[in-house]
Amino acid sequence: MKITAVLLAAGQGTRMKSSLPKVLHSVSGKPMIWHALQALQTVTNELPVVVVGHGADEVTTYLGGSARTVVQRPQLGTGHAVMKAEPVLRGNTDLVIVCYADMPLLRGETLQKLVDTQKQNPGPISMLTVIADDPRGFGRIIRRDDGTVHAIVEEYVATPDQLQVKELNVGAYCFDANWLWDALGRIPQNPKKGEYYLTDTVELAVADGLPVHATLMDSLEETIGVNTRVHLAECEAAMRRRINQMHMLNGVTMIDPATVYIDADVKIGRDSTIMPNTFIYGNTEIGEGNVIGPNTMIRDSKIGRGCKVLASVMEGARLEDDVEMGPFARLRKGARLGNHVHMGNFGEVKDSYLADGVKMGHFSYIGNAQIGARTNIGAGTITCNYDGEKKHATEIGEDVFIGSDTMLVAPLKLGNGARTGAGAVVTKNVPEDTLVVGIPARAIRKLERKPKKK
Ligand code: UD1
Ligand code: MG
Repeated sequence: MKITAVLLAAGQGTRMKSSLPKVLHSVSGKPMIWHALQALQTVTNELPVVVVGHGADEVTTYLGGSARTVVQRPQLGTGHAVMKAEPVLRGNTDLVIVCYADMPLLRGETLQKLVDTQKQNPGPISMLTVIADDPRGFGRIIRRDDGTVHAIVEEYVATPDQLQVKELNVGAYCFDANWLWDALGRIPQNPKKGEYYLTDTVELAVADGLPVHATLMDSLEETIGVNTRVHLAECEAAMRRRINQMHMLNGVTMIDPATVYIDADVKIGRDSTIMPNTFIYGNTEIGEGNVIGPNTMIRDSKIGRGCKVLASVMEGARLEDDVEMGPFARLRKGARLGNHVHMGNFGEVKDSYLADGVKMGHFSYIGNAQIGARTNIGAGTITCNYDGEKKHATEIGEDVFIGSDTMLVAPLKLGNGARTGAGAVVTKNVPEDTLVVGIPARAIRKLERKPKKK
Protein backbone atom coordinates (compact mmCIF):
# COMPACT_ATOMS: atom_id res chain seq x y z
CA MET A 1 0.00 0.00 0.00
CA LYS A 2 1.42 3.37 -1.03
CA ILE A 3 1.27 6.03 1.67
CA THR A 4 2.33 9.60 0.81
CA ALA A 5 2.56 12.72 2.94
CA VAL A 6 1.38 16.14 1.85
CA LEU A 7 2.93 18.71 4.13
CA LEU A 8 1.43 22.20 4.15
CA ALA A 9 4.02 24.95 4.34
CA ALA A 10 2.71 27.76 2.17
CA GLY A 11 1.45 30.12 4.88
CA GLN A 12 3.19 33.39 5.52
CA GLY A 13 3.82 33.11 9.24
CA THR A 14 3.28 36.86 9.65
CA ARG A 15 3.39 36.69 13.42
CA MET A 16 6.94 35.35 13.44
CA LYS A 17 8.01 38.84 12.26
CA SER A 18 10.86 37.34 10.34
CA SER A 19 12.47 37.47 6.93
CA LEU A 20 13.08 33.72 7.23
CA PRO A 21 10.16 31.48 6.17
CA LYS A 22 8.45 30.19 9.30
CA VAL A 23 9.10 26.50 8.67
CA LEU A 24 12.86 27.14 8.40
CA HIS A 25 13.06 28.46 11.97
CA SER A 26 14.96 25.93 14.06
CA VAL A 27 13.91 23.76 16.95
CA SER A 28 16.76 21.87 18.60
CA GLY A 29 19.11 22.85 15.79
CA LYS A 30 16.92 21.66 12.88
CA PRO A 31 14.29 23.56 10.89
CA MET A 32 10.72 22.86 11.99
CA ILE A 33 10.01 21.26 8.64
CA TRP A 34 12.84 18.78 9.20
CA HIS A 35 11.11 17.53 12.34
CA ALA A 36 7.79 17.18 10.51
CA LEU A 37 9.44 15.23 7.68
CA GLN A 38 11.32 13.05 10.14
CA ALA A 39 8.06 11.98 11.82
CA LEU A 40 6.30 11.46 8.46
CA GLN A 41 9.14 9.35 7.14
CA THR A 42 8.43 6.68 9.74
CA VAL A 43 4.87 6.10 8.44
CA THR A 44 5.09 6.78 4.69
CA ASN A 45 6.88 4.91 1.94
CA GLU A 46 6.83 7.51 -0.85
CA LEU A 47 8.72 10.79 -1.25
CA PRO A 48 6.63 13.48 0.51
CA VAL A 49 5.05 16.43 -1.28
CA VAL A 50 5.53 19.81 0.38
CA VAL A 51 3.16 22.64 -0.54
CA VAL A 52 5.22 25.84 -0.57
CA GLY A 53 4.18 29.45 -1.14
CA HIS A 54 5.66 32.22 0.98
CA GLY A 55 9.43 31.84 0.84
CA ALA A 56 8.96 29.02 -1.69
CA ASP A 57 12.49 29.31 -3.11
CA GLU A 58 14.21 29.21 0.24
CA VAL A 59 12.13 26.28 1.47
CA THR A 60 12.62 24.37 -1.80
CA THR A 61 16.37 24.94 -1.66
CA TYR A 62 16.49 23.71 1.91
CA LEU A 63 14.50 20.57 1.08
CA GLY A 64 16.77 19.57 -1.80
CA GLY A 65 16.06 15.96 -2.71
CA SER A 66 14.25 15.16 0.54
CA ALA A 67 10.82 16.08 -0.86
CA ARG A 68 8.91 17.09 -3.97
CA THR A 69 7.50 20.60 -3.83
CA VAL A 70 4.42 22.17 -5.40
CA VAL A 71 3.75 25.89 -5.29
CA GLN A 72 0.50 27.34 -3.96
CA ARG A 73 0.14 30.98 -4.93
CA PRO A 74 -2.09 32.67 -3.82
CA GLN A 75 -2.89 30.76 -0.63
CA LEU A 76 -6.61 30.09 -0.70
CA GLY A 77 -6.92 27.80 2.31
CA THR A 78 -5.93 24.32 3.47
CA GLY A 79 -8.20 22.57 0.94
CA HIS A 80 -6.77 24.64 -1.89
CA ALA A 81 -3.25 23.75 -0.69
CA VAL A 82 -3.94 20.01 -0.97
CA MET A 83 -5.41 20.54 -4.46
CA LYS A 84 -1.93 21.62 -5.57
CA ALA A 85 -0.57 18.17 -4.72
CA GLU A 86 -3.21 16.34 -6.74
CA PRO A 87 -1.53 16.49 -10.18
CA VAL A 88 1.60 14.94 -8.68
CA LEU A 89 -0.15 12.25 -6.66
CA ARG A 90 -3.34 11.23 -8.47
CA GLY A 91 -3.07 7.54 -9.33
CA ASN A 92 0.26 7.25 -7.50
CA THR A 93 -0.78 6.66 -3.91
CA ASP A 94 -3.41 4.79 -1.88
CA LEU A 95 -3.40 6.89 1.27
CA VAL A 96 -2.55 10.57 1.74
CA ILE A 97 -1.48 11.97 5.08
CA VAL A 98 -1.95 15.73 5.34
CA CYS A 99 -0.34 17.72 8.11
CA TYR A 100 1.39 21.04 8.78
CA ALA A 101 5.09 21.83 8.65
CA ASP A 102 4.80 24.11 11.68
CA MET A 103 3.99 21.32 14.19
CA PRO A 104 7.47 19.99 14.97
CA LEU A 105 6.43 17.99 18.04
CA LEU A 106 4.01 15.63 16.32
CA ARG A 107 5.63 12.19 16.61
CA GLY A 108 5.85 9.33 14.17
CA GLU A 109 4.13 7.01 16.68
CA THR A 110 1.10 9.30 16.71
CA LEU A 111 0.97 9.45 12.92
CA GLN A 112 1.16 5.65 12.91
CA LYS A 113 -2.01 5.52 15.03
CA LEU A 114 -3.66 7.83 12.50
CA VAL A 115 -2.69 5.56 9.61
CA ASP A 116 -3.80 2.44 11.51
CA THR A 117 -7.16 4.09 12.18
CA GLN A 118 -7.62 4.85 8.50
CA LYS A 119 -6.63 1.30 7.50
CA GLN A 120 -9.51 0.03 9.67
CA ASN A 121 -11.89 2.72 8.45
CA PRO A 122 -14.37 1.73 5.73
CA GLY A 123 -14.78 5.49 5.14
CA PRO A 124 -12.38 7.94 3.45
CA ILE A 125 -11.08 10.16 6.31
CA SER A 126 -9.39 9.71 9.67
CA MET A 127 -8.07 12.60 11.72
CA LEU A 128 -6.19 13.36 14.94
CA THR A 129 -8.02 15.14 17.71
CA VAL A 130 -7.10 16.30 21.20
CA ILE A 131 -9.02 17.37 24.28
CA ALA A 132 -7.98 20.73 25.70
CA ASP A 133 -9.37 23.45 27.93
CA ASP A 134 -7.76 26.17 25.86
CA PRO A 135 -9.19 25.84 22.34
CA ARG A 136 -6.53 28.10 20.71
CA GLY A 137 -8.85 28.85 17.82
CA PHE A 138 -8.89 25.22 16.67
CA GLY A 139 -11.91 23.69 14.93
CA ARG A 140 -14.35 21.88 17.24
CA ILE A 141 -15.13 18.20 16.66
CA ILE A 142 -18.79 17.26 16.60
CA ARG A 143 -19.24 13.51 17.08
CA ARG A 144 -22.28 11.37 16.35
CA ASP A 145 -23.76 8.84 18.74
CA ASP A 146 -21.79 6.03 17.11
CA GLY A 147 -18.52 7.88 17.80
CA THR A 148 -17.78 8.81 14.21
CA VAL A 149 -17.19 12.46 13.34
CA HIS A 150 -20.17 14.44 12.13
CA ALA A 151 -18.46 17.76 11.46
CA ILE A 152 -15.54 20.08 12.18
CA VAL A 153 -16.86 23.48 13.10
CA GLU A 154 -14.44 26.37 12.77
CA GLU A 155 -14.44 28.78 15.69
CA TYR A 156 -15.72 31.78 13.76
CA VAL A 157 -18.93 30.02 12.74
CA ALA A 158 -19.47 27.97 15.91
CA THR A 159 -22.61 28.37 18.04
CA PRO A 160 -22.15 29.07 21.78
CA ASP A 161 -22.85 25.38 22.47
CA GLN A 162 -20.30 24.25 19.89
CA LEU A 163 -17.72 26.63 21.36
CA GLN A 164 -17.97 24.63 24.61
CA VAL A 165 -16.76 21.46 22.88
CA LYS A 166 -13.35 20.46 24.21
CA GLU A 167 -12.36 18.04 21.45
CA LEU A 168 -10.33 19.90 18.83
CA ASN A 169 -9.14 19.31 15.29
CA VAL A 170 -5.34 19.02 15.39
CA GLY A 171 -4.93 19.45 11.64
CA ALA A 172 -3.51 16.03 10.73
CA TYR A 173 -5.52 13.72 8.49
CA CYS A 174 -5.24 10.47 6.62
CA PHE A 175 -7.37 10.20 3.47
CA ASP A 176 -8.28 7.53 1.00
CA ALA A 177 -6.55 9.07 -2.01
CA ASN A 178 -9.08 8.33 -4.72
CA TRP A 179 -11.95 9.68 -2.67
CA LEU A 180 -9.90 12.76 -1.72
CA TRP A 181 -9.11 13.90 -5.25
CA ASP A 182 -12.79 13.80 -6.14
CA ALA A 183 -13.83 15.50 -2.89
CA LEU A 184 -11.36 18.38 -3.29
CA GLY A 185 -13.23 19.36 -6.45
CA ARG A 186 -16.47 19.45 -4.48
CA ILE A 187 -15.29 21.71 -1.63
CA PRO A 188 -17.40 24.86 -1.76
CA GLN A 189 -15.63 28.18 -1.87
CA ASN A 190 -16.10 30.03 1.41
CA PRO A 191 -18.45 32.90 0.51
CA LYS A 192 -16.82 35.37 2.93
CA LYS A 193 -13.12 34.64 2.47
CA GLY A 194 -13.07 32.99 -0.94
CA GLU A 195 -11.04 30.11 0.50
CA TYR A 196 -11.34 26.33 0.27
CA TYR A 197 -11.19 24.51 3.59
CA LEU A 198 -9.90 20.97 3.88
CA THR A 199 -12.16 20.51 6.89
CA ASP A 200 -15.16 20.70 4.54
CA THR A 201 -14.25 17.24 3.23
CA VAL A 202 -15.75 15.87 6.48
CA GLU A 203 -19.17 17.20 5.52
CA LEU A 204 -18.77 15.73 2.04
CA ALA A 205 -17.96 12.26 3.44
CA VAL A 206 -20.90 12.44 5.82
CA ALA A 207 -23.17 13.46 2.92
CA ASP A 208 -21.81 10.48 0.95
CA GLY A 209 -22.87 8.29 3.89
CA LEU A 210 -19.22 7.37 4.63
CA PRO A 211 -17.79 7.25 8.16
CA VAL A 212 -15.14 9.74 9.35
CA HIS A 213 -12.97 8.43 12.17
CA ALA A 214 -11.00 10.35 14.76
CA THR A 215 -8.05 9.21 16.88
CA LEU A 216 -7.90 11.03 20.18
CA MET A 217 -4.31 11.90 21.13
CA ASP A 218 -3.19 11.80 24.74
CA SER A 219 -0.45 14.41 24.40
CA LEU A 220 -1.43 18.05 24.12
CA GLU A 221 2.23 18.96 23.78
CA GLU A 222 2.50 17.23 20.40
CA THR A 223 -0.15 19.50 18.97
CA ILE A 224 1.75 22.74 19.59
CA GLY A 225 1.79 24.67 16.34
CA VAL A 226 4.22 27.53 15.95
CA ASN A 227 2.80 30.94 15.04
CA THR A 228 5.00 33.23 17.13
CA ARG A 229 8.48 33.09 18.62
CA VAL A 230 6.84 32.49 21.98
CA HIS A 231 5.42 29.25 20.57
CA LEU A 232 8.82 28.52 19.07
CA ALA A 233 10.42 28.70 22.53
CA GLU A 234 7.67 26.44 23.92
CA CYS A 235 8.45 23.87 21.24
CA GLU A 236 12.15 24.18 21.89
CA ALA A 237 11.66 23.47 25.60
CA ALA A 238 9.41 20.48 24.93
CA MET A 239 11.74 19.08 22.27
CA ARG A 240 14.73 19.48 24.57
CA ARG A 241 13.02 17.51 27.33
CA ARG A 242 12.14 14.83 24.80
CA ILE A 243 15.71 14.60 23.41
CA ASN A 244 17.28 14.48 26.89
CA GLN A 245 14.85 11.81 27.99
CA MET A 246 15.64 9.71 24.93
CA HIS A 247 19.38 9.85 25.70
CA MET A 248 18.83 9.00 29.36
CA LEU A 249 16.66 6.02 28.40
CA ASN A 250 19.48 4.94 26.08
CA GLY A 251 21.97 4.87 28.96
CA VAL A 252 23.35 8.41 29.17
CA THR A 253 23.57 10.00 32.64
CA MET A 254 22.54 13.63 33.09
CA ILE A 255 23.09 15.24 36.46
CA ASP A 256 20.68 18.06 35.65
CA PRO A 257 18.87 17.61 32.34
CA ALA A 258 17.19 20.99 32.76
CA THR A 259 20.51 22.65 31.91
CA VAL A 260 21.57 20.34 29.08
CA TYR A 261 20.96 21.42 25.47
CA ILE A 262 21.35 18.75 22.81
CA ASP A 263 20.39 19.16 19.17
CA ALA A 264 18.19 16.63 17.41
CA ASP A 265 20.30 13.97 15.67
CA VAL A 266 23.27 14.14 18.07
CA LYS A 267 24.47 10.66 19.01
CA ILE A 268 25.76 9.74 22.48
CA GLY A 269 26.98 6.32 23.62
CA ARG A 270 26.06 4.46 26.80
CA ASP A 271 27.56 5.32 30.14
CA SER A 272 28.58 8.75 29.00
CA THR A 273 27.73 11.48 31.50
CA ILE A 274 26.58 14.92 30.43
CA MET A 275 27.22 17.41 33.21
CA PRO A 276 25.20 20.58 33.77
CA ASN A 277 25.32 23.61 31.51
CA THR A 278 26.46 21.68 28.49
CA PHE A 279 25.53 22.39 24.87
CA ILE A 280 25.94 19.74 22.18
CA TYR A 281 25.07 21.00 18.73
CA GLY A 282 24.95 20.05 15.09
CA ASN A 283 26.38 16.93 13.61
CA THR A 284 28.06 15.56 16.73
CA GLU A 285 28.79 11.98 17.73
CA ILE A 286 29.96 11.06 21.20
CA GLY A 287 31.00 7.52 22.08
CA GLU A 288 30.72 5.53 25.30
CA GLY A 289 31.95 6.30 28.80
CA ASN A 290 32.82 9.97 28.36
CA VAL A 291 32.29 12.78 30.85
CA ILE A 292 31.26 15.97 29.07
CA GLY A 293 30.98 19.25 30.94
CA PRO A 294 30.07 21.06 33.04
CA ASN A 295 30.13 24.32 31.09
CA THR A 296 31.02 22.87 27.73
CA MET A 297 29.99 23.66 24.16
CA ILE A 298 30.50 21.11 21.39
CA ARG A 299 29.49 21.57 17.77
CA ASP A 300 29.92 19.30 14.73
CA SER A 301 32.51 17.16 16.50
CA LYS A 302 33.34 13.55 17.15
CA ILE A 303 34.47 12.06 20.45
CA GLY A 304 35.65 8.48 21.01
CA ARG A 305 35.45 6.69 24.37
CA GLY A 306 36.57 7.45 27.87
CA CYS A 307 37.29 11.15 27.34
CA LYS A 308 36.87 13.96 29.83
CA VAL A 309 35.95 17.38 28.48
CA LEU A 310 35.67 20.00 31.19
CA ALA A 311 34.55 23.60 30.64
CA SER A 312 35.75 23.64 27.05
CA VAL A 313 34.66 24.54 23.53
CA MET A 314 34.97 22.25 20.48
CA GLU A 315 33.91 23.05 16.93
CA GLY A 316 34.54 20.76 13.96
CA ALA A 317 37.03 18.82 16.04
CA ARG A 318 37.74 15.24 16.95
CA LEU A 319 38.90 13.40 20.06
CA GLU A 320 40.10 9.82 19.94
CA ASP A 321 39.94 7.74 23.16
CA ASP A 322 40.84 8.64 26.76
CA VAL A 323 41.58 12.27 25.99
CA GLU A 324 41.54 14.74 28.87
CA MET A 325 40.68 18.25 27.91
CA GLY A 326 40.14 21.45 29.87
CA PRO A 327 39.23 23.34 31.82
CA PHE A 328 39.11 26.25 29.36
CA ALA A 329 40.48 24.53 26.28
CA ARG A 330 39.37 25.35 22.76
CA LEU A 331 39.43 23.10 19.73
CA ARG A 332 38.67 24.69 16.40
CA LYS A 333 37.99 23.23 12.97
CA GLY A 334 40.28 20.39 12.00
CA ALA A 335 41.73 19.81 15.45
CA ARG A 336 42.26 16.16 16.26
CA LEU A 337 43.61 14.83 19.53
CA GLY A 338 44.90 11.24 19.60
CA ASN A 339 44.51 8.64 22.35
CA HIS A 340 45.52 9.73 25.85
CA VAL A 341 46.28 13.30 24.82
CA HIS A 342 46.16 15.74 27.71
CA MET A 343 45.22 19.32 26.90
CA GLY A 344 45.02 21.61 29.89
CA ASN A 345 43.80 25.14 30.45
CA PHE A 346 43.97 28.04 28.00
CA GLY A 347 45.08 26.09 24.97
CA GLU A 348 43.80 26.43 21.41
CA VAL A 349 44.28 23.91 18.62
CA LYS A 350 43.22 24.40 15.01
CA ASP A 351 43.81 22.26 11.88
CA SER A 352 46.31 20.11 13.74
CA TYR A 353 46.85 16.55 14.84
CA LEU A 354 48.28 15.79 18.24
CA ALA A 355 49.30 12.11 18.17
CA ASP A 356 48.86 9.64 21.05
CA GLY A 357 50.07 10.75 24.44
CA VAL A 358 50.93 14.36 23.60
CA LYS A 359 50.82 16.63 26.64
CA MET A 360 49.94 20.28 26.28
CA GLY A 361 49.34 21.55 29.77
CA HIS A 362 48.79 25.29 29.61
CA PHE A 363 48.60 28.47 27.52
CA SER A 364 49.43 27.28 24.02
CA TYR A 365 48.34 27.87 20.45
CA ILE A 366 48.85 25.07 17.96
CA GLY A 367 47.75 25.74 14.36
CA ASN A 368 48.49 23.87 11.11
CA ALA A 369 50.72 21.44 12.95
CA GLN A 370 51.41 17.72 13.20
CA ILE A 371 52.77 16.67 16.56
CA GLY A 372 54.29 13.24 17.10
CA ALA A 373 53.46 10.79 19.88
CA ARG A 374 54.43 11.55 23.49
CA THR A 375 55.71 15.03 22.72
CA ASN A 376 55.46 17.60 25.50
CA ILE A 377 54.35 21.12 24.65
CA GLY A 378 55.54 23.50 27.37
CA ALA A 379 53.43 26.30 28.78
CA GLY A 380 53.07 29.29 26.48
CA THR A 381 54.21 27.55 23.30
CA ILE A 382 52.99 29.17 20.09
CA THR A 383 53.09 27.97 16.52
CA CYS A 384 53.61 31.21 14.60
CA ASN A 385 51.72 29.80 11.61
CA TYR A 386 50.59 32.99 9.90
CA ASP A 387 52.93 35.47 8.25
CA GLY A 388 50.19 37.98 7.50
CA GLU A 389 49.44 36.43 4.13
CA LYS A 390 49.69 32.66 4.31
CA LYS A 391 49.38 29.84 6.81
CA HIS A 392 52.47 27.64 7.19
CA ALA A 393 52.86 24.16 8.62
CA THR A 394 54.79 23.00 11.66
CA GLU A 395 55.91 19.38 11.96
CA ILE A 396 57.08 18.18 15.33
CA GLY A 397 58.39 14.65 15.77
CA GLU A 398 57.91 12.09 18.53
CA ASP A 399 59.23 12.45 22.06
CA VAL A 400 60.03 16.11 21.51
CA PHE A 401 60.21 18.48 24.46
CA ILE A 402 59.17 22.04 23.68
CA GLY A 403 60.34 24.34 26.48
CA SER A 404 58.05 26.95 28.00
CA ASP A 405 57.29 30.01 25.92
CA THR A 406 58.83 28.66 22.72
CA MET A 407 57.85 30.44 19.48
CA LEU A 408 57.84 28.00 16.58
CA VAL A 409 58.07 30.15 13.44
CA ALA A 410 56.55 28.15 10.57
CA PRO A 411 57.26 26.60 8.16
CA LEU A 412 59.26 24.49 10.53
CA LYS A 413 60.27 20.90 11.30
CA LEU A 414 61.59 19.49 14.54
CA GLY A 415 63.01 15.97 14.44
CA ASN A 416 62.23 13.16 16.89
CA GLY A 417 63.69 13.70 20.33
CA ALA A 418 64.47 17.39 19.74
CA ARG A 419 64.30 19.87 22.62
CA THR A 420 63.92 23.64 22.85
CA GLY A 421 65.00 25.82 25.73
CA ALA A 422 62.56 28.14 27.53
CA GLY A 423 61.83 31.26 25.51
CA ALA A 424 63.45 29.99 22.31
CA VAL A 425 62.35 31.55 19.03
CA VAL A 426 62.84 28.71 16.56
CA THR A 427 63.18 29.86 12.95
CA LYS A 428 65.17 26.97 11.45
CA ASN A 429 64.50 23.23 11.30
CA VAL A 430 65.83 21.30 14.26
CA PRO A 431 67.50 17.93 13.61
CA GLU A 432 66.68 14.82 15.70
CA ASP A 433 67.90 14.69 19.27
CA THR A 434 69.19 18.24 19.27
CA LEU A 435 68.78 20.97 21.88
CA VAL A 436 68.24 24.51 20.57
CA VAL A 437 68.09 27.70 22.65
CA GLY A 438 67.95 31.45 22.30
CA ILE A 439 66.62 34.04 19.86
CA PRO A 440 66.78 32.97 17.12
CA ALA A 441 67.39 29.53 18.50
CA ARG A 442 70.70 27.82 17.75
CA ALA A 443 71.82 24.27 18.44
CA ILE A 444 74.03 23.90 21.47
CA ARG A 445 74.12 20.18 22.17
CA LYS A 446 73.29 16.69 20.90
CA LEU A 447 70.97 14.72 23.23
CA GLU A 448 70.57 11.17 24.35
CA ARG A 449 66.93 10.05 24.39
CA LYS A 450 65.51 8.04 27.29
CA PRO A 451 62.44 5.93 26.52
CA LYS A 452 59.30 7.51 28.06
CA LYS A 453 56.57 5.80 30.04
CA LYS A 454 53.05 6.34 28.61
C1 UD1 B 1 -6.80 24.74 10.58
C2 UD1 B 1 -8.09 23.94 10.56
C3 UD1 B 1 -8.65 23.85 11.99
C4 UD1 B 1 -7.61 23.22 12.89
C5 UD1 B 1 -6.31 24.03 12.84
C6 UD1 B 1 -5.25 23.36 13.63
C7 UD1 B 1 -9.00 24.49 8.39
C8 UD1 B 1 -10.05 25.24 7.66
N1 UD1 B 1 -9.04 24.61 9.72
O1 UD1 B 1 -7.15 26.04 10.98
O2 UD1 B 1 -9.84 23.07 12.03
O3 UD1 B 1 -8.10 23.16 14.21
O4 UD1 B 1 -5.87 24.14 11.48
O5 UD1 B 1 -4.09 24.12 13.57
O6 UD1 B 1 -8.23 23.78 7.80
N2 UD1 B 1 -1.64 26.61 4.75
C9 UD1 B 1 -1.20 26.55 3.45
N3 UD1 B 1 -1.93 27.16 2.47
C10 UD1 B 1 -3.07 27.83 2.73
C11 UD1 B 1 -3.51 27.88 4.07
C12 UD1 B 1 -2.79 27.27 5.06
O7 UD1 B 1 -0.16 25.95 3.17
O8 UD1 B 1 -3.67 28.34 1.79
C13 UD1 B 1 -0.84 25.97 5.81
C14 UD1 B 1 -0.27 27.01 6.76
O9 UD1 B 1 1.04 27.33 6.40
C15 UD1 B 1 -0.35 26.30 8.10
C16 UD1 B 1 -1.45 25.27 7.96
O10 UD1 B 1 -1.70 25.15 6.58
O11 UD1 B 1 0.84 25.61 8.39
C17 UD1 B 1 -2.71 25.62 8.71
O12 UD1 B 1 -3.23 26.82 8.21
P1 UD1 B 1 -3.98 27.84 9.13
O13 UD1 B 1 -4.42 28.97 8.31
O14 UD1 B 1 -3.19 28.12 10.35
O15 UD1 B 1 -5.27 26.99 9.56
P2 UD1 B 1 -6.27 27.38 10.72
O16 UD1 B 1 -7.18 28.41 10.20
O17 UD1 B 1 -5.52 27.66 11.93
MG1 MG C 1 -3.39 28.00 12.50
